[in-house]
Amino acid sequence: MKRLVLKLLPLKGNMKTRGFVSAAVMAGMMLMALGYFIYDGHQRGGGMMGKMMGMMMNETGRHSFLMSNGVPQKYAELSNPLPSSPENISAGKELYNINCMSCHGETGLGDGVAGKSLDPAPADLISSLSMPMSSDSFLYWSISAGGSAFNSAMPAFESVLNENERWQIITYLRQL
Ligand code: HEC
Repeated sequence: MKRLVLKLLPLKGNMKTRGFVSAAVMAGMMLMALGYFIYDGHQRGGGMMGKMMGMMMNETGRHSFLMSNGVPQKYAELSNPLPSSPENISAGKELYNINCMSCHGETGLGDGVAGKSLDPAPADLISSLSMPMSSDSFLYWSISAGGSAFNSAMPAFESVLNENERWQIITYLRQL
């Protein structure tokens, strides 16, 4: 490490001062970078770290958007107001089968017949739901706004299903 630093930062002076100065410069740079990450992450809920993670994992679309920006403000504070009652679950199932199953499949695995030729492919909702990112607000945003921002065929249901119906579907998905 010390050798590398010395090579990267050829400063005048004897070995001792050179080593010291380089180490100090490196430490300073690292602190600044750390400060920026914390500041940036705090500001935008994921920030630059999110972008880097997205790049490292070679992800595109919705997930990397989420990691960089969080759920869009319009939806960010929302949470499911409905109890997980048998009525809401069965209503949600019915709505899911009519509106979602063709792409996301009967059990939510993303293997519906209408989704086979889509690129990006329909999400495997079972695996999405098992991840911490799947907050109520994330699901509600995805369903409401659809995927046009990500060049995906995921339809926007904002004007198709009322709020109650969208939450019923989420209630159903949560207990799959
Ligand atoms: C025409 C096919 C199609 C239909 C119908 C459809 N979706 Fe999607 N959905 C997609 C595609 C493609 C994606 C992946 C790209 C994206 O996130 O926009 C997706 C992504 C999602 C995501 C994001 C999951 C994640 O991990 O990023 C959720 C949640 C979702 N859909 C729920 C639903 C629900 C609920 C319905 C029914 C109300 C539905 N979808 C109907 C195609 C569809």
